[in-house]
Amino acid sequence: MTTYKTTSLVTGGAGFIGSHLVDALVARGGRVAVVDDMSSGRKQNLNSRVEFYEADIRDAAMRDVFRTVRPEVVFHTAAQMSVSVSARDPMLDAEVNVMGTLNLLDAMRSSGGGKMVFASTGGAMYGAASDLPTPETSPSRPGSPYGASKLAVENYLPVYRELYGIDFSILRPANVYGPRQNPHGEAGVVAIFTKSMLTGGAVRIFGDGEDTRDYVYVDDVVRAMLLAGERGGTGPYNVGTGRETSVNELAGRLSRLTGYACDPVHAPARPGDLRRASLACDRAKKELGWSSRTSLDAGLSLTAEWFVTETRAARLRT
Ligand SMILES: NC(=O)c1ccc[n+]([C@@H]2O[C@H](COP(=O)([O-])OP(=O)(O)OC[C@H]3O[C@@H](n4cnc5c(N)ncnc54)[C@H](O)[C@@H]3O)[C@@H](O)[C@H]2O)c1
Repeated sequence: MTTYKTTSLVTGGAGFIGSHLVDALVARGGRVAVVDDMSSGRKQNLNSRVEFYEADIRDAAMRDVFRTVRPEVVFHTAAQMSVSVSARDPMLDAEVNVMGTLNLLDAMRSSGGGKMVFASTGGAMYGAASDLPTPETSPSRPGSPYGASKLAVENYLPVYRELYGIDFSILRPANVYGPRQNPHGEAGVVAIFTKSMLTGGAVRIFGDGEDTRDYVYVDDVVRAMLLAGERGGTGPYNVGTGRETSVNELAGRLSRLTGYACDPVHAPARPGDLRRASLACDRAKKELGWSSRTSLDAGLSLTAEWFVTETRAARLRT
């Protein structure tokens, strides 16, 4: 991969995906700024070599931040990213995900343009798609306000390019997992299971556990974002593995990795949960030269190792 020294701004750079992306950008030697309101981001995730602006992407102060930083590439990962929160509070979801993004685009306009690499969604975009793995040409049928807000931004981006010359690439990641994912939310089943297993908690599976998802390792997603920043077209680009893994299989693999001996507890299926999901990523392969590299086994063991260290450190802190 070519290295490029550029000025990047990462929104959500103290979060799960954003902080890994920041580390990769810093390692390349470019100037990196981060905007994060720390609503779910963590100080420990934050690379010490960035210019950090603790601020809400909805804030009018974004213009000042952007005029100071003048980013060439804006990696936009900050979001209200919970599907269930979006169903409970669609207005909040739209405020952060739609209005917050428009505020950033406005700040980009006022600081001379540039390119936005937008973290959309693959998992919440296609609904119950008839073709699996699902390509980007499949109809967008979000089943949640969260998916609708991501799609709304996808629809704004070409308009902003046409009117104001702001370039963009859209990425649609599948179910991302890896170190630093928040295990206390309602999404992020790998993080939730791993943490429960390591702390001797119950592992709860909704429904029969045969629902499938496409689990993609965070480093692979970061590599796709970097490639999109360097040479990506508009996309959208699915970012997944094209493989389906059931929740039961995931729980089994994680049990073996963590030495967890209890059986999972089954709870009623959650209404609206998709039965099957996986993403076809031929476009990313063709246009970005990207495909996922990390096998599920390798990714899960890296994740479990990180949670072991993190759980030990948390015990020492208390
Ligand atoms: N994790 C996944 O499986 C997944 C899959 C597809 C797409 N995505 C998208 O990728 C992006 C990153 O997801 P993540 O899993 O790293 O989430 P995360 O919650 O770990 O990170 C989001 C970061 O954004 C910050 N943030 C939230 N609202 C903000 C606001 N109003 N102003 C400033 N900062 C704010 C949070 O503090 C956090 O640090 C999101 O846009 C999400 O929708 C995630």
